[in-house]
Amino acid sequence: MNTTVKQGTLTGTPTEVLVIPGYEGESALNKAIHPLDRNLGGQLVELRKTGEFQGKLNQCVLIHTRGAIPAKRLLLVGLGKREELTLDRVRQAMGTVAKRVCQAEVRSFSTTILGLDQPGLSPDDLAQAMVDGVILGDYRFSTYRTDSSNNNKPLNSMTILVDKPSLLANVKLGIQRGTATGEATCFARDLCNHPANVMTPSRVVEEAKKISKEKKVRLTVLNPSKMKQLGMGGVLGVGQASQHPPQFIILEYQGGKKGEKPIVFVGKTVTFDSGGISLKSAENMDHMKADMTGGAEVLATVRAAARLRLPLNIVGLLPVAENMPGGKATKPGDILTMLSGKTVEVLNTDAEGRLILADGLAYASRFKPACVIDIATLTGACIVALGQFAIGMLGNDEKLKDRFRQAGECSGERVWEMPLWDEYFEQLKSDVADMRNIGGRGGGMITAAMFLKQFVGKFPWVHIDIASTDWSATDRPCISKGPTAIGTRLLIQFLLNSTKKSHT
Ligand code: BES
Ligand code: MN
Ligand code: ZN
Repeated sequence: MNTTVKQGTLTGTPTEVLVIPGYEGESALNKAIHPLDRNLGGQLVELRKTGEFQGKLNQCVLIHTRGAIPAKRLLLVGLGKREELTLDRVRQAMGTVAKRVCQAEVRSFSTTILGLDQPGLSPDDLAQAMVDGVILGDYRFSTYRTDSSNNNKPLNSMTILVDKPSLLANVKLGIQRGTATGEATCFARDLCNHPANVMTPSRVVEEAKKISKEKKVRLTVLNPSKMKQLGMGGVLGVGQASQHPPQFIILEYQGGKKGEKPIVFVGKTVTFDSGGISLKSAENMDHMKADMTGGAEVLATVRAAARLRLPLNIVGLLPVAENMPGGKATKPGDILTMLSGKTVEVLNTDAEGRLILADGLAYASRFKPACVIDIATLTGACIVALGQFAIGMLGNDEKLKDRFRQAGECSGERVWEMPLWDEYFEQLKSDVADMRNIGGRGGGMITAAMFLKQFVGKFPWVHIDIASTDWSATDRPCISKGPTAIGTRLLIQFLLNSTKKSHT
């Protein structure tokens, strides 16, 4: 979808649909809308009076203008209560608009900047949230549908109208950012929506190759024999029963100064998690095609950083494997020697994410990173603890955790911290190796992070557990049913904020 900003009035702009926002419980029309209502013969006041349009969040009313103004249709959209407006509500309202416009078989529309009358919300952030919302709301995955009558077409264009030329530059910046975050999320969703018989480890490598065509991006791939040489026992151990050999992807973006320490992302990329010999039950096992969400989000983030030309050095690391049972599979009780040299007794082959991440985190130290962020659909315990609206966060550095809390608030993909006290390592002690890969019944999200901590060098580090938000049972304004790719915008917002302020 193409978004542009231009100076224009509501009563003078020709368009398929003109989108007009309204707050809940305010029957008096906004002054800026008066000329519009006059031209429409008082219809807007009427819709308010009758209660047909109340302005509740995501409420939509579509009317035809029949030549009263150059816009063919008017779409009223509710923003909820004025004092409760947030960037995320703006995003949601625009996701709803995208769906409603498509439903009307229209492919383009114009709109004002939603929420510009609210103190504390800047035009660039609002434009970012708007564009982001439209792209997310317009997401569909129809690659495997052969009946094209089912495939309704995506939107072509959105025009943001401003009344002052002084707003043009800021809105343009917001459009760029919103386009990048929205497209990145859709890209990550696509990767996770593709079934595991298509999105194999080698296919993930192909996707990384495409990204390496972006400016200042370099790709290195370690194949199994190279991994063996280095001693990546974790990735090899998880992937050893699969017909699709494991891979290790290194994607480097150099947008910052040479020699400047990079931000390193490590993304869990399990293209299918059957559980291995500790086989999962059949119910919802298909969701495990999305057990590569962390890796998909890291790829999407590097691509977005390159497209936005962020002045940062970034490394994306993806340990990629398919976790399968079989004659060659790792068995409960097997001991693996990891890249760091530490040994792990595998007591449950379904706790595989931490095994591949351990090698990813150990590899991260080679870059002498400014900070390390790993992101993973790591534990069912995360879902139990947080439900579907919060992302789990644990880490060793207060400042870095604060930066993620802040990026969470800005992006609407919010994180919640869990403790990571040394005492939790008790649960990971093994009788025969340096540690075991499961920590027993209590605190599953914490013991998984505690396991990862054993492989992190002396660098600021956060672990992001996205098992809670990874898959949605329903379609929501900006969240598609199935793989959500929630976390992508968190990572990109973290990078955007990192360019705004200097952090030490
Ligand atoms: N990929 C799963 C975690 C998961 C579960 C993500 C459901 C999304 C939805 C992970 O590899 C796993 O199987 N974890 C086990 C660990 C356990 C065996 C210690 C879990 O949480 O059950
Ligand atoms: Mn598992
Ligand atoms: Zn898994």
